[in-house]
Amino acid sequence: MADYCLSPLAHDDIHSISAIEQRAHCSPWADTQLAAPTGRFDHAYGLRLMQPHALLIGYFYARCIAGEGELFNIAIDPTYQGQGWGSVLLEAMIKHLGEAGAECIWLEVRESNAAAQALYQKHGFKLVNRRKHYYACTNGRREDAWVMQKNGVKTKAAHHYPA
Ligand SMILES: CC(C)(COP(=O)(O)OP(=O)(O)OC[C@H]1O[C@@H](n2cnc3c(N)ncnc32)[C@H](O)[C@@H]1OP(=O)(O)O)[C@@H](O)C(=O)NCCC(=O)NCCS
Repeated sequence: MADYCLSPLAHDDIHSISAIEQRAHCSPWADTQLAAPTGRFDHAYGLRLMQPHALLIGYFYARCIAGEGELFNIAIDPTYQGQGWGSVLLEAMIKHLGEAGAECIWLEVRESNAAAQALYQKHGFKLVNRRKHYYACTNGRREDAWVMQKNGVKTKAAHHYPA
C-alpha cells in the first residue's frame, strides 16, 4: 500500500472533495454542506497519498457528542476504490472517535449500498434498525435506510471527553 497521511479537511480542499463527492455518491452533498467541516462535524479528515503530491483520495465527516459517535459521510475516489483505502479511512474514523470518547458509533446507509454495508460489517458494525423509505432515489422512488452501530469503540487513549 502506498504511503498516505490523514489530516483535517481544510477550506482549500473543497474543490477536491466536491469532485470526489459528485463521482462517488448517487445523492451527493452540496458544496455548502461539504465546506462546513468544523462546528457540525468535529471530526472531518481527508486521506492523502504522499506521492506525488498529497493527493486527496477520500474523506469522512463525523462527530462525537456525549459519548456517541456518528458517521455522516465517507467516500473514496472511485479511481481508488477496491484497493483497501475505504478500510484505512474507516479504521481511522473509528480510532479518532474512540479517542474522543465515543463508546459507540452510529451510521445510516442505503439498503441498496452493498459495498458500504460490507465495509461496515467487516469493521464490526451491526444492523440494528431499518428506517422505511428514508432515502430519496433518482427514479423518484424511496428506499430504506439501514441503521448500523458499532460498540466498544472508546480507547484507553481517550482524552477529549469531558469528565
Ligand atoms: C464504501 C466505500 C467507502 C468503500 O471503499 P473502498 O476503498 O472501495 O473499500 P475497500 O477496498 O477498503 O474494501 C473494504 C471492504 O469493503 C467491502 N467492499 C468494498 N467494495 C465492495 C464492493 N464493490 N462489493 C462488495 N463489498 C465491497 C468489502 O467487505 C471489502 O473487504 P474485502 O476487500 O476484504 O472484501 C467506497 O465504495 C465508496 O466511496 N463508495 C461511495 C460512497 C459511499 O457509498 N459511502 C458510504 C455511504 S453510507
